[in-house]
Amino acid sequence: MLDDNKLRQRQQLQEMARGYRQARILLTCVEVGVFDALSGRWASAEEVAATVGVNGRAAELLLNAAAALGLLYKRDARYSNSDLAEAHLTQNAVGGMARRLKLESAFYRRWGGLTDAVRTGKRPEDDHRVEQSTDWVRTFIYGLYDMARNIAPFIADTLALPEDQPLRVLDVGGGHGGYCIALAERYPLLTATVFELPRVVPVAQEIIAQAGLAARIEVQEGDFHQDELGSGYDVALLFGVLNGEPREKRPILIQKIFSALNPGGQIVLREFVLNPDRTSPPQEAIFALQMLLTTESGGLDTSDDWAEWLGSAGFTTSQRIELPPWIGSSLTLARKPSVASEK
Ligand SMILES: C[S@@+](CC[C@H](N)C(=O)[O-])C[C@H]1O[C@@H](n2cnc3c(N)ncnc32)[C@H](O)[C@@H]1O
Repeated sequence: MLDDNKLRQRQQLQEMARGYRQARILLTCVEVGVFDALSGRWASAEEVAATVGVNGRAAELLLNAAAALGLLYKRDARYSNSDLAEAHLTQNAVGGMARRLKLESAFYRRWGGLTDAVRTGKRPEDDHRVEQSTDWVRTFIYGLYDMARNIAPFIADTLALPEDQPLRVLDVGGGHGGYCIALAERYPLLTATVFELPRVVPVAQEIIAQAGLAARIEVQEGDFHQDELGSGYDVALLFGVLNGEPREKRPILIQKIFSALNPGGQIVLREFVLNPDRTSPPQEAIFALQMLLTTESGGLDTSDDWAEWLGSAGFTTSQRIELPPWIGSSLTLARKPSVASEK
């Protein structure tokens, strides 16, 4: 007979092993469009099934399970979005998460291949092919944009840049351009360049045009492995890019950014960063494993790695700013000396 402690431990392991169920229910509801179908109304399972085009019996099972998780309300065999779902999971929700969760669906598929990836050391190839499609690029960039757009104004404020000078910002691998949008909105004299791969350029241009900032934010097509980044920049952002790069290429990119900055200019890094033990913070340690599934040889660094690379590139003063928990991670700022002797 197992004692209480052992029974609790078994329960703990069982919950860990079944965590995928909750994730799958939420992600499937987003994928088939349950929350949009129930936005602002009550409907039966058959009505939802007809609206979103899925099997009626399966829809009822899914809606009941979603209600059990608090994603829906159920009354007299009719369903409606819970306050939580209505506030965050419909396509039209302000600052909503629906597009971002479509991205999580893609990652979910990849996590399903973890055992193979661990055996072979390689990311799942099939998903990689799917992800070369134009549709995937849009899903990926819009999903990242939805993650960035709520936090970007806070980061723009935190950077406390001078407001009375015409600053030039370079956002390397800037994706959607959401951080440049927030900076341009916060600092009226600032202009920006988003440096991106060709397939991302039209999506970034579309998002920037929607924000009405095409005159102040340009998108420069290029590959930072082969192309120069340009010159004359006062601030360079490197957000979520180093993690996807092979380790030996990360210091090279930092060096390239150093060359693109004016004397006195600063680099701002926002990447997940591990503590030296590499097992904490927990979300970062888990994200490091996701790099095995989503990149060829990406990975996470420790702050010691960055200090070394920034120093070798020639950056001097380096400062780390912790971001509040609702944003997570931190900003690392480092400055290029304003005169050659400072280096
Ligand atoms: C994880 S996303 C980060 C996007 C954005 N900086 C953010 O934080 O939301 C990485 C971006 O780097 C871009 N990227 C990757 N390799 C690149 C390369 N060789 N040259 C230019 N951009 C690249 C990708 O297209 C992608 O948009």
